[in-house]
Amino acid sequence: MAADKLVFAVNGERFEVAKVDPSTTLLEFLRTRSRYTGPKLGCGEGGCGACVVFLSKYDPVSGQVNGSSVSSCLTLLCNINLCSVTTTEGLGNSKDGFHSIHQRFAGFHASQCGFCTPGMCMSLFSALNNADNTNRPEPPRGFSKIKKYEAEKAISGNLCRCTGFRPIADVCKSFAADVDLEDLGFNIFWEKPEDANVERLPPYNQHKVCTFPEFLKCEINSSMNTLKSFKDNGALECQWYRPASFDELYELLNSSEFIESHVKMVVGNTMSGVYKEINLYDKYISLTGIPELSIIERNSKGFTLGAAVTISKAIEVLKERDGNVLKTDGELVFGRIAEHMDKVATPFVRNMASLGGNLIMAQRYQFPSDIATILLAAGSTVCLQMASERLILSLEEFLEGPPYDDRTILVSIHIPYWSSASISSSGTSKYNIIFGTYRAAPRPLGNAVSYLNSAFLAHVASDRSSGDIVLLKLHLAFGAYGTEHAIRARKVENFLVGKMLTVSVLIEAIKLLKEIIIPKEGTSHPRYRTSLAVAFLFKFFQPLSKDLAQVEKNNLHIPDVILSSKQLVEFSTEYFPVGKPIKKVAAEIQASGEALYVDDIPSSKDCLYGAFIYSTRPFARIKGITFNPTLVSSKIVAYISINDIPEGGKNVGSSFRFADEPLFADSLTEYSGQCLGIVVAETQRYANMAAKQAIVQYSTKGLEPPILSVEDAVRRSSFFDIPPSLYPTKVGDLARGMDEADHKILSAEVKLESEHYFYMETQTAFAIPDEDNCIVVYSSNQYPEGTQGVIAKCLGIPQHNVRVITRRVGGGFGGKATRSNPIATACALTAFKLRRPIKMYLDRSTDMVMVGGRHPMKITYSVGFKSDGKITALYLNLLVNAGISEDYSPLISHAIITCLKKYNWGALAFDIKLCKTNLTSKSSMRAPGQVQGSYIAEAIIERVASFLSLDVDVVRKRNLHTYESLKFFYGSSSGEAPEYTLPAIVDELFTSASYFNRLEMVLHFNSCNKWKKRGISWVPIVYEVEPMPTPRKVSILNDGSIVVEVGGIEIGQGLWTKVKQMAAFGLEQLWDEEKKYLLDRVRIIQADTLSLVQGGLTAGSTKSEASCEAVRLACSILVSRLKPLKQSLEEQMGSISWDTLITQANLQFVNLSASTFWVADDTSSYLNYGTAISEVEIDVLTGATTILRADLTYDCGQSLSPAVDLGQVEGSFVQGIGFFVYEKLEENSDGLVISDGTWTYKIPSIDTIPKHFNIRVMNSGHHKDRVLSSKASGEPPLLLAASVHSAIRKAIRAARADFSSTDPNDSSVSSFQFDPPATMPLVKELCGLDTVEKYLEAHGEV
Ligand SMILES: Cc1cc2nc3c(=O)[nH]c(=O)nc-3n(C[C@H](O)[C@H](O)[C@H](O)COP(=O)(O)OP(=O)(O)OC[C@H]3O[C@@H](n4cnc5c(N)ncnc54)[C@H](O)[C@@H]3O)c2cc1C
Ligand code: FES
Ligand code: FES
Repeated sequence: MAADKLVFAVNGERFEVAKVDPSTTLLEFLRTRSRYTGPKLGCGEGGCGACVVFLSKYDPVSGQVNGSSVSSCLTLLCNINLCSVTTTEGLGNSKDGFHSIHQRFAGFHASQCGFCTPGMCMSLFSALNNADNTNRPEPPRGFSKIKKYEAEKAISGNLCRCTGFRPIADVCKSFAADVDLEDLGFNIFWEKPEDANVERLPPYNQHKVCTFPEFLKCEINSSMNTLKSFKDNGALECQWYRPASFDELYELLNSSEFIESHVKMVVGNTMSGVYKEINLYDKYISLTGIPELSIIERNSKGFTLGAAVTISKAIEVLKERDGNVLKTDGELVFGRIAEHMDKVATPFVRNMASLGGNLIMAQRYQFPSDIATILLAAGSTVCLQMASERLILSLEEFLEGPPYDDRTILVSIHIPYWSSASISSSGTSKYNIIFGTYRAAPRPLGNAVSYLNSAFLAHVASDRSSGDIVLLKLHLAFGAYGTEHAIRARKVENFLVGKMLTVSVLIEAIKLLKEIIIPKEGTSHPRYRTSLAVAFLFKFFQPLSKDLAQVEKNNLHIPDVILSSKQLVEFSTEYFPVGKPIKKVAAEIQASGEALYVDDIPSSKDCLYGAFIYSTRPFARIKGITFNPTLVSSKIVAYISINDIPEGGKNVGSSFRFADEPLFADSLTEYSGQCLGIVVAETQRYANMAAKQAIVQYSTKGLEPPILSVEDAVRRSSFFDIPPSLYPTKVGDLARGMDEADHKILSAEVKLESEHYFYMETQTAFAIPDEDNCIVVYSSNQYPEGTQGVIAKCLGIPQHNVRVITRRVGGGFGGKATRSNPIATACALTAFKLRRPIKMYLDRSTDMVMVGGRHPMKITYSVGFKSDGKITALYLNLLVNAGISEDYSPLISHAIITCLKKYNWGALAFDIKLCKTNLTSKSSMRAPGQVQGSYIAEAIIERVASFLSLDVDVVRKRNLHTYESLKFFYGSSSGEAPEYTLPAIVDELFTSASYFNRLEMVLHFNSCNKWKKRGISWVPIVYEVEPMPTPRKVSILNDGSIVVEVGGIEIGQGLWTKVKQMAAFGLEQLWDEEKKYLLDRVRIIQADTLSLVQGGLTAGSTKSEASCEAVRLACSILVSRLKPLKQSLEEQMGSISWDTLITQANLQFVNLSASTFWVADDTSSYLNYGTAISEVEIDVLTGATTILRADLTYDCGQSLSPAVDLGQVEGSFVQGIGFFVYEKLEENSDGLVISDGTWTYKIPSIDTIPKHFNIRVMNSGHHKDRVLSSKASGEPPLLLAASVHSAIRKAIRAARADFSSTDPNDSSVSSFQFDPPATMPLVKELCGLDTVEKYLEAHGEV
């Protein structure tokens, strides 16, 4: 094997690459130059796990193969020379048989849109592989050696926006022998928990997958001498070097060729996930070939770890100890360091990321490192190589120095061994070492940088006379709080050393600390971060102080991951196979990576790639767009702008019922994030980078300031019209209701922020010019019909020239209803202009910046109520921020009010204004308007309760509708009295979830615990839906197979699954008694706007049922055509098979294709009901929330596909948790989204979902007006997550009552503005940023 070639294996296939741009990532290579598209691009920053693959290395000396998960989006291809890559396709596939991981993902209903699934499978595979390679005893047959806890943590770095994680956790746990299989969730392997048995699960065989092929081992063995370094001289522009010694390194660096070059030095290259690269490098140097950088030495003085040692390896060795017992303080320190490191990034990042890389990032780029802080406290030193000089510095000196240039190499890190064996000379007894590390971050298991981290090391001794603890030596390190680098709080250390740890000493220490921990200008939540420093110092010292040491009672350790779950899914076989909980269509191929998403469609050889240049100013004249001459801008092939719109075409990029929206800004920008032009290059990465290099000159001279808030819009009367037919109608007589009230709150406020879709597959399209002025566009889209119209208008061609095809969508949540239009249109325009295929796949940041999201709004209200809590009148003033264009917004007022009406307000009136602002257009997002409406209702109920000092549950119940009031508020949608199941659901859930007992327990807990507070709450929902008109076509082919086309799009919601069941049911009506099983004969195919017209919009939770009804009608047409033939054949032949019937039908020219267009009648709108109880625990010191338990009951009518509906209920609830607790979309002062990726925008992950998660999907029986008695499930359960917010409010109230300096019953304690999301800083702020100080002062006084 030649050393100038890159050789590696993917799924056992040999790859030899001679020419490659060394900046190519493994993911890019796999997706564009191999046939493996299983690994997906979800973020490109190491933060989502969609791209995870298993990377194995072979050591020719030991003959051992070691492998681990890595994020292929950060791994450089050149770094995997002589490695073997296993992607999800390598585990198994539809041809050779799926892997049990794939099968269990399908069988446990753990894949919805499927975009995250390949990465999930690989993270799980890696965890199983790791466990199976340990020397633990062999597990029982069918299991891995993995432990339940490890199995759940296996996917801790992977994000899923659809499932809510619970079923994925079950898949993972199903491999662990210590799991009780009966506890696993709803699946296709057994019907009842009692039947749970490993034999029923797809068998797991740990040896099934060969992760390192023999041929590669042989190649490595036979050419060991020539493989010292890989140097690619064949690359065109850039080169890759892997020096084998410092001499070689400096020889390279000193050569004239390098001095003039733009060189990047790398180890794991994970920094590119943190600081995005927007230019290319001339040369790359990998430091991994220098042996000293990989040393691991342990001796009596401590650990020396080479700088290139990965974080995972460091964790592994630091955890190692003699025997299984922690024997010494030194080992305790190492163990704690390892535990903390376990929360750095994600497993698949830690497997590549080096310790040295982390410290260099901290030193050179002010990265908020955890590792720097904990190693600083542990008294570590670093060894540096500066040309021929070696330097040993303390970590503190290293961090404090000016940023080192890239000729300074970090060689190793030494962590000293701390021992408590010595005897102090100062009269105190033997001292002990105490070491603690802390971090406050939005996610407990990592995958989130901290607001502040800290680590403390103390030598403590007990004073012989007083028994007090004396502090002999201290290292107090703090980092990540908006500081240039981690620091030692020397002043505090100096003050404390030698002192006895009394309350007053601690108070003084905290005062000093607050003078030191001051986040630099511009850091978010500065006071919160300072308060965290105080909290952690207190947490460390509290157990040491005899005045303060008190163990919190009932304060059990809550594991980081899900503890248990229950699903009660009620279904009926009345319409079998409709109603059967089958696995989701295509679930296995989604897991195995064979399912095709738009970007997986192979690009033809002349394909080019486009990226948007967007405006960063909300309202400005564009004076020019230029590019600096850089390596990457030289890659630009074309630039497409408004001037390229063909004659007869129009500058239109999106359109909905109400108005068109331009594709390009036309000389004047209207909002930050607006498209200015499209950069076209030969790869997506070059296009993305080049677009970011664009220099846009703006001028605001003579222009009015932009409108960036609803208040601005009101001042400037900037509104969109709401057509009268869409304006909701008021209910009752407001004046009378107000007159009846005993009390009134005249002006209270609720503010709701935006939320991003964060679908795992960002917006993407692929346009291919076709003959005769036609174009084919593959689009990830919920509304292809709409997109077809927009493209035709933009290009000035008839719609029949535009074919938009959508097979599946990697998550939509409304974001691909209209917001996919600009991408598809831009792609089509570029392809049309260049006459070449064009792909566009937005990077995560561009997607988040350009694509609107949920509507923010501000609500002021007046409410009148009786003394017993009965509300008599409500008046609301709603200012909805619609952004720059109408889009879906005129429909939102109806949506808000319909869900707000869930309570009987007596009388309800409102004024709703749709504000036009210079912001991205807000659009429909899962439960658009409804979630806000439902929440506003809860906020009002809470407010009334606290005004009256009544229990909120009393007020909530008092205002629940009776059937009569429901009818008054909802009219015909409320159906018949027995259909109003909500009151019964609520009562049943109170009993099944032991609500009242738990209320008592929460009170008790709160009375026993100071720093942890709990809250439990419930909310009901009423959600109105209306099925939309839908077409479909059912055709039976010669061989009896059935193909179905529907207007609805499979976006993960299981539409295809329900339609498949319905098609089988519909055609099985041919048989009066005995049903034939046609399910496996049915295939649903992609939406194609020229094949099935009037496809409409997939949204509003009802497209599945509408599609099903349309299919049922089409099937009944076919049945009516086939029935006479069947009867006559049966008369001749007796009973006949389906195949015979179809063969005969073909021979007799029966039309075997039927189309219908189903339009719901006027009575088709109906109400959905559900309720949830959530219990939370908040950490008063950090503001962190743990959702201890959630119980949901959702009335699904007679579910069409119970497993699908269960998935929708759980998934939307967890998405709602995101809205109510975690997701904070932030903009700068120009309205430009700045929380634009996985670093800054936190959707829920497995460690943030309820620890006990119990769902009941209720079957409320026959509903004559529903599609086979079914009800919607996609959106309504999202609203139930408000119960979590409400429970947090209660917990905060308990904390405020404890720390209040006034009467705990004072209204300032119980009534406070608490708008979602309930982020950590907000929760802590509301509990009090000074709780520790108050507590200490109170104790000091005693
Ligand atoms: C998604 C994600 C989440 C993360 N979360 C956390 C977190 O919670 N806490 C935390 O502390 N960190 C976190 N990190 C940071 C992570 O630890 C670092 O990215 C990683 O350790 C860098 O190592 P690397 O080998 O990949 O460095 P590279 O990316 O290869 O290099 C980083 C920089 O260091 C230089 N460099 C590397 N090694 C040396 C050396 N030996 N001598 C001189 N220069 C060198 C490189 O030239 C480059 O400039 C996260 C990173 C990611 C991607
Ligand atoms: S795409 Fe690699 S981690 Fe998200
Ligand atoms: S199934 Fe996980 S992101 Fe859709």
